[in-house]
Amino acid sequence: MPKKVLIDTDPGGDDIYSLFWLQSLMRQEVVELLAIATTEGNVSARNTFNAACQVLRLGEIDTVAVGRGVDVPDKYLTNASHIHGDDGMGNLSQTLPPGRRRFHESLVSDDLIIRVLKAHPYEVTLVAIAPLSNLAAAEEKEPGILRLAKEVVIMGGAFNSPGNITPVAEFNMAFNPKAAQRVFASREDLVILPLDVTRQLVFTPEMLRQVTGLEPKNQLAQFMADLAKFLMTTTLQYRETGGQLGFLVHDAVAVAYLVYPELFKFARALVSIETEGRLTNGQTLCDRRHGVKTGVNAWVAEEVDAQNLLACLVEDLHYLVERTTSYTSY
Ligand code: BDR
Ligand code: CA
Repeated sequence: MPKKVLIDTDPGGDDIYSLFWLQSLMRQEVVELLAIATTEGNVSARNTFNAACQVLRLGEIDTVAVGRGVDVPDKYLTNASHIHGDDGMGNLSQTLPPGRRRFHESLVSDDLIIRVLKAHPYEVTLVAIAPLSNLAAAEEKEPGILRLAKEVVIMGGAFNSPGNITPVAEFNMAFNPKAAQRVFASREDLVILPLDVTRQLVFTPEMLRQVTGLEPKNQLAQFMADLAKFLMTTTLQYRETGGQLGFLVHDAVAVAYLVYPELFKFARALVSIETEGRLTNGQTLCDRRHGVKTGVNAWVAEEVDAQNLLACLVEDLHYLVERTTSYTSY
């Protein structure tokens, strides 16, 4: 039986690679992607929605529902367009066919999450690779709704690694720390995939070549190549890979966990989010003291087999590229 998945995302380059990975897994019939909830984060709510729709069209899987995010009024950060481009797509959206859905006609993402979880109680893995605004809003509207998910998997946080947006905080947690706090209080078994592991996931030019071939033959492959080049440039600029040419596919970690869980080692943990610190908002804290802990809420990934994760990503992306027919005209 394919695994039922609902993804919450803010595309974003690494989100886009993750959405392509999911589309490959759908074609391989190991995942059933029920819906994509988009949210403000890397770029505005409207741009993340448009990006998700264009990505679905490029992968030629256009049957999935897409929810729209709402502006987050009290966000702690500005967006990450300096890394991902103003449109979240490396400024390439104008070169691609438009998505097939309209922003204002689409369901708001928190309602979409509620609807999907109610329609498939205890069957859906909810994967969040973005600030947790939609999940928190869904929980606020329908307290307990996140418990209806089979599992909630979150890319976010930093424990033994510095932050990537402040000295101590990771972007998805720091963008809307109060939302994160609400979600961390929602279950006892959240799966957390933090920067400590995702910083090891450098997608290199050689991997890109394996995915697309030397001369990309279709629009999907061409877009992957152009987006990767854009991200490799901004990644070097912001010194995210210690000078190595490549970009970090943070969010792909969550897709990997869905179908290749053997790649990870986890620690059971009590994780809290700082929401009031002047310098530390969005910091994730894990209580490692040897004292009684009654409120554990998470499994935190401490180790990843990065080499094999990236090999799986490359193979699965190549699978999608090989089966996509649209020919490029640009
Ligand atoms: C996270 O922040 C975003 O910029 C990425 O898409 C990823 O979800 C990494 O900290
Ligand atoms: Ca993201």
